[in-house]
Amino acid sequence: MLSPEDNALLTQTGPGTPGGEMLRRYWHPVALAEELPPGGAPLAVRILGEDLALFRNQYGELGLLGIHCSHRAADLSYARVEDGGLRCLYHGWLYDVHGNCLEQPGEPEGSTFKDKVKHLAYPCVEAGDLILAYMGPGEPPLVPAYEFLTAPEESVFTSKVFSSCNYLQGNEGNIDPVHLSYLHRFLREDERARAVVGGTGSSNSYFTHDVSPTIEVEETFFGLRVFSVRDGGDGASYVRVTNFVYPNMAPNPQGVDGFNINWHVPIDDTHHWKFRVNFKRGGPLDKEQLREDFYSQMGDGWVPRRNLSNRFTQDREEMVATSFIGMGRFFVVHDQYATETQGAIQDRSVEHLGTTDKAIAAHRRLLLQAIRAVQEGDDPPNVTHDPAHNDYEDLICADAIVPAGEDWRASWRKYLKMGAAAR
Ligand code: FES
Ligand SMILES: [Fe+2]
Repeated sequence: MLSPEDNALLTQTGPGTPGGEMLRRYWHPVALAEELPPGGAPLAVRILGEDLALFRNQYGELGLLGIHCSHRAADLSYARVEDGGLRCLYHGWLYDVHGNCLEQPGEPEGSTFKDKVKHLAYPCVEAGDLILAYMGPGEPPLVPAYEFLTAPEESVFTSKVFSSCNYLQGNEGNIDPVHLSYLHRFLREDERARAVVGGTGSSNSYFTHDVSPTIEVEETFFGLRVFSVRDGGDGASYVRVTNFVYPNMAPNPQGVDGFNINWHVPIDDTHHWKFRVNFKRGGPLDKEQLREDFYSQMGDGWVPRRNLSNRFTQDREEMVATSFIGMGRFFVVHDQYATETQGAIQDRSVEHLGTTDKAIAAHRRLLLQAIRAVQEGDDPPNVTHDPAHNDYEDLICADAIVPAGEDWRASWRKYLKMGAAAR
């Protein structure tokens, strides 16, 4: 449970709010790279409550500008991409990727008025098939050296989903290991189900068998390491290690040689983008299959076809025969149901957290500390300007069986080791 004041601190994301200022100290994805092909049109994007125009100039440089022209506010996402920048359609002012106004064709020759105009601009980089932006003050920190941002193209598949709720609800769903035993439960095994490394069954079979995992949380430099440990049969333990990564990212394990990222970027206080990355360390992904699996479930505007407006087309017969919740096999839909129906901004002053919610409580405490750090003029955690500290070898996300007779606390790295060693 949170006080209404702390709930507001954690869920406000706009400019000038304490939470928004904390979030602005980090790089965030703002688009998929494929949305902005060379020679393509600018994109209108709304991030952290700010309306912006994202574009790639003819030299391939990325720019993220305030969407309203500094002259008389026409929308720059309609602008022409030319002469190294964006040229406004209304009167032809030209901006470069840094927000410098290069031309004001209507002004008298020799005028220096353009030099007085500095348009809002944020730095952007392309990494791991995502376009990331830094919307904070000062020199941007280093782009975090997350493994999936520097992996070969064939090891990464990116996508995104529009979510009609505050980003914190997305964050909290990722570090809530018990929901795997219910929300995503299938009553019949899928032939494509992933077998757990070292085990005899699918993850679904273990989640169904043990609905009351032991949950332990460890604070780290990047956020939280979350252990959820279920009965693995015959004295063995099924150990999942997931993570909360400041301020809005979570990898979810796919065995020991890959994971799926959810990165929850506020659009505004009541909507967010869930950027998704499938990452496989040990070989190429079947990207065609992933693309087919994803886009066959999606409607317009990056909203799944089963969504809040059609009650996720819940099927009560499916709830008897196939799945616990009757909303199909696409996990994204399950999570949309869970997070969007909590309300646009969940009122955490009336919830009742149980012992299995300890990672959620810890994550809130860390984010409140991060907000305070920024208010006091410090960098928040997981921000660095020093290449020697830009190291995520200890960000391990994996799941596997730890055999009977082993203390999982002592030996989890050994059995989940590809998550750490194969780098
Ligand atoms: S409004 Fe953009 S050039 Fe005038
Ligand atoms: Fe989920």
